[in-house]
Amino acid sequence: KDASKSTDTRLQETCDLLKANVKHYDWVGFYFKNGDKNELKLGPYAGEPTDHTIIPFGKGICGQVAVSNQNFVVPDVKAQDNYIACSITVKAEIVIPLFVNGENIGQIDIDSNTPDPFTKADERFLEFVNAEIAKIL
Ligand code: SME
Repeated sequence: KDASKSTDTRLQETCDLLKANVKHYDWVGFYFKNGDKNELKLGPYAGEPTDHTIIPFGKGICGQVAVSNQNFVVPDVKAQDNYIACSITVKAEIVIPLFVNGENIGQIDIDSNTPDPFTKADERFLEFVNAEIAKIL
């Protein structure tokens, strides 16, 4: 472990690695609770820039996970009424909360241009990724 690498660098490398190596991961990013505000703020990400750098709790898939503390797998984004579209090419989404000492402090958010691509294996894998990230936060 290289102690000189910043947390943001490590998060950025994680996003880049996931996007480059998993075919159905087309946008990979971290959102974190923004201080004392009831909103999420975009952190490091890989993929197209998004306008949604701030997401209020309860809004969209990400905002819902901020309050539910549960994984949210969306096989078809068109079937969701509480959804924030970042790109018209996106077909599916998965959001996995990130816990530090049992507290939901943010999430990893992945968009896919492939319809219904996410399985239980993605959930278990991304839970593991988040648990590893939690150790460096
Ligand atoms: N689709 C998300 C918004 C974030 S973008 O996917 C990067 C949502 O509905 O919360």
